[in-house]
Amino acid sequence: MSKRTYDDNTVIIFDTTLRDGEQSPGATLSSAEKLEIARQLSNLGVDVIEAGFPAASPDDLKAVQRIAQEIGTEDGPTICGLSRAVESDILTAWEGVKDAAKPRIHTFLGTSPQHLAMVGITQEEGLERIRMGVTLAKSLCDDVEFSPMDAGRTDMEYLIQACTVAVECGATTLNIPDTVGYVMPAEWEEKLEQLISETPGAGPGSNVVWSVHCHNDLGLATANTLAGVKVGVRQVEVTINGIGERAGNTSLEEVVMALHTRKSFYKLRSNIDSTQIMKTSRMVSNYMGMPIQPNKAIVGANAFAHESGIHQDGVLKDADNFEIMTPESVGLHQSKLVLGKHSGRHALRVRLEELGYKVEGDALNQIFGRFKILADAKKNVTDADLEALMTDEFHKPEEFFTLGDIQIVCGTMGMPTATVRLLSGAGEEIIVAAVGTGPVDAAYRAIDQITNCPNTLIEYNVHSVTEGIDALGEVTVRIQTPDGSRVVGGYGADSDIIVSSVKAYMAAVNRLIAALGQGETIQPEGDAATINVKTSQE
Ligand code: KIV
Ligand code: ZN
Repeated sequence: MSKRTYDDNTVIIFDTTLRDGEQSPGATLSSAEKLEIARQLSNLGVDVIEAGFPAASPDDLKAVQRIAQEIGTEDGPTICGLSRAVESDILTAWEGVKDAAKPRIHTFLGTSPQHLAMVGITQEEGLERIRMGVTLAKSLCDDVEFSPMDAGRTDMEYLIQACTVAVECGATTLNIPDTVGYVMPAEWEEKLEQLISETPGAGPGSNVVWSVHCHNDLGLATANTLAGVKVGVRQVEVTINGIGERAGNTSLEEVVMALHTRKSFYKLRSNIDSTQIMKTSRMVSNYMGMPIQPNKAIVGANAFAHESGIHQDGVLKDADNFEIMTPESVGLHQSKLVLGKHSGRHALRVRLEELGYKVEGDALNQIFGRFKILADAKKNVTDADLEALMTDEFHKPEEFFTLGDIQIVCGTMGMPTATVRLLSGAGEEIIVAAVGTGPVDAAYRAIDQITNCPNTLIEYNVHSVTEGIDALGEVTVRIQTPDGSRVVGGYGADSDIIVSSVKAYMAAVNRLIAALGQGETIQPEGDAATINVKTSQE
């Protein structure tokens, strides 16, 4: 990745996938997964990574600390930790980020009438909280960001007062959130323009950077973010694939590609290497078990597909007829080197390296074995297949149970039966058979009997990585605890979709066990190496 550079026309890309994004239902990640995503965000070229909310839990704190230590290098991005304007939160946020070469504390307080009432304080008390929070953060860290949460519904006079206090106390980034996705682009533009010109000490030429953080409840997050950029905002808070609370956040890829594609309009730049977008998008989607809608701008499966005859003809004559950016510019390649069953280890290694994966030794042998099985079943193995295999093979959550074997009997007889062999962390081998309404249901029931981790399946998605009957099938699932308090996702890929389904479910169950802190205590049901055949549906 090339060095990050800055001038007046640089839009700072503040990525909050690991904080606001991770707050999406089911997006829970382990600390190792967060670290891998942070590494890829750094390769993508983001300027700031909001690594988490350290006061939320000891695990969140540890994850932020690891990212600060390993990704927050001199040449790397700024590492930021979020905190309420509360003393203990701010101290914990500092504990999280202090080892980064460029640490930042981001502190916030709700300033709208609704949010002040929610916390039970007056406007005056709110200003005092901001004074206390920013002053404390500044005493610990030179780089302090302040956000008046729900600014979109905060009256102008109070918003200016809140920002003025933050600047007086040392905040150098003022982030203006549309927390509930309420504002319209034209009104947001007007509001930001007034705020920038009327907040003392924070106008053009000062050391204050204005930022926006827009939610997507009315589908306007990208439009509102770009409206801010037009009137002088020079930091945008975004997430990969637009994930985030409720309808999500502003999507990084949409804002970045708007700035790149419409350079003549904005006359601005960013430090993002746009060719890393697809890889980052797939990684976040797979790790979080959150599929991307096919028509999603930039990263959806159909974003560069041309279906109608007129469009296909036009693109064949000149891609510019219907493509405003090239697939290659976002990292979507049509590989010149087609891999198939005659391809060797070397060709595979080279192609994986081109895709950004360095694989050697045992890991190469492992992925080569998977590649050979797929290549036997499928004529051409594409880049998307390789990325799916890499995620499936190497990206697994901490495993309390691993999949040994699965055998399914199903058909028109109405008794789909799954026999599942799992290995527990203690080295036990447990075999259970169960009957279900279909093969996937039967397999999930058998797994449930072994893992003994009650949950409800709330989402199951299957899709083929490429076209054709021989395609690799990807499955993502989301499961939740019976009380709905925890939601986690899982991903699996295989040319047999029942196997993909089982792998995805195993990943999710392992993640749920970890999230509930049950790894130490969980007792598998059924005896080791016994066959416990369930003959009725439960
Ligand atoms: O949406 C929001 O207001 C936030 C703040 C914490 C910046 O996420
Ligand atoms: Zn938010």
